[in-house]
Amino acid sequence: MSLSSLSAQPEDPLLHIIEQYSADSRPDKIDLGVGVFRDPHGHTPVMAAVSEAEMRHWKTQQTKAYVGPAGDRHFVTLLGEEALGDASLLARGCGVQTPGGTGALRLAAEVLAAAGVKRLWAAAPTWTNHLPVFAAAGIESRLVRVFDPAEGVYEADRFLNALSDAEPGDVVLLHGCGHNPTGLDPNAAQWESLADRLAERRLVPLVDMAYQGLADGFAEDAAGALAVLRRAPYALLAYSCDKNFGLYRERTGALWAFAPDAPGARILESNMLAKARVNWSMPPDHGAAVVRLILEDSALKRCWHEELDGMRQRLTGLRAALARGGRIGSVDCSVLGRGRGLFATLPLSPDHIRRLCEDYAIYMAGSGRINIAGFTDEGAVATFLSALREVLA
Ligand code: LMR
Repeated sequence: MSLSSLSAQPEDPLLHIIEQYSADSRPDKIDLGVGVFRDPHGHTPVMAAVSEAEMRHWKTQQTKAYVGPAGDRHFVTLLGEEALGDASLLARGCGVQTPGGTGALRLAAEVLAAAGVKRLWAAAPTWTNHLPVFAAAGIESRLVRVFDPAEGVYEADRFLNALSDAEPGDVVLLHGCGHNPTGLDPNAAQWESLADRLAERRLVPLVDMAYQGLADGFAEDAAGALAVLRRAPYALLAYSCDKNFGLYRERTGALWAFAPDAPGARILESNMLAKARVNWSMPPDHGAAVVRLILEDSALKRCWHEELDGMRQRLTGLRAALARGGRIGSVDCSVLGRGRGLFATLPLSPDHIRRLCEDYAIYMAGSGRINIAGFTDEGAVATFLSALREVLA
């Protein structure tokens, strides 16, 4: 065995779109690929509250000395309070800062693997990186086809029935809100049924919360996750600040582990810290410091919430414009109106997706997922719908 035994690995297809799109010189190109928020000019802005906090941080930071494997504890506390707003749940939980939401998921996977967990259940389709992250920690995944993007429905009963075969202690991955890639979230009754089934089968929920504030509203977006986390004796919450604080490249996230009581949570925390130490040792500081500064200052926090509300309203408007496209061949765009957040998945073939790219400079994921924020305005939506009409004719 040596390094020469390795074979070349394929590039991540989603991230590859970033390069393909920037190499395309057609002026009217449309990027519906990677999931980042964009403004009407096609830019992913630094949020005003973030810029202000960065300025303050730059002026006041006295040292770059290590913070420690848990990261910025005040960031974790404030983010937990803001995101969940449930003191009794947080009292039986411990959180650590992670390098982005993916770092949180990977840390969760490592801790679960150390606890002997073998299986993760997930509703399909799910984010393309979910299963590889768990596979890398030796956890196998069971996928249950639950979403029907063509019909715009989340078929909760299928998932609930499949979970009857799960073993106590298996982990169930749930998207907190703004499901990636379909935009279809369980409704309140479906979240309750999930919470019941998980508790009844003694399954461990792992909620991936990467889009809080971009689906129905900041507090509203936590309701489903809270229904599940409050009922489960043991649970995990992986949180990303990439999208709702626009901090993508700063890799800012957190992982919470909940146990039946505070001493139990401290044991989980010690395991998270030990795993963090051997993976990244300590998380990067800048993004967490910025979020902390925003959440510490009520005026800055209000400014951030207002901007986030505006981002969500932009997505809602674009989604409604897409839904007005109605039926186009085999694609019923009106069902897109049922989704929320950044994403929707269209039932398109690889050939349709190739033609949209080659003939119309429209880039999207190979699964038919589109990033709704990729449309600059309703004019771009109209351009897309007319290209779709041509391709599906
Ligand atoms: C996406 O789904 O497009 C984003 O979460 C970016 C990523 O890392 O895949």
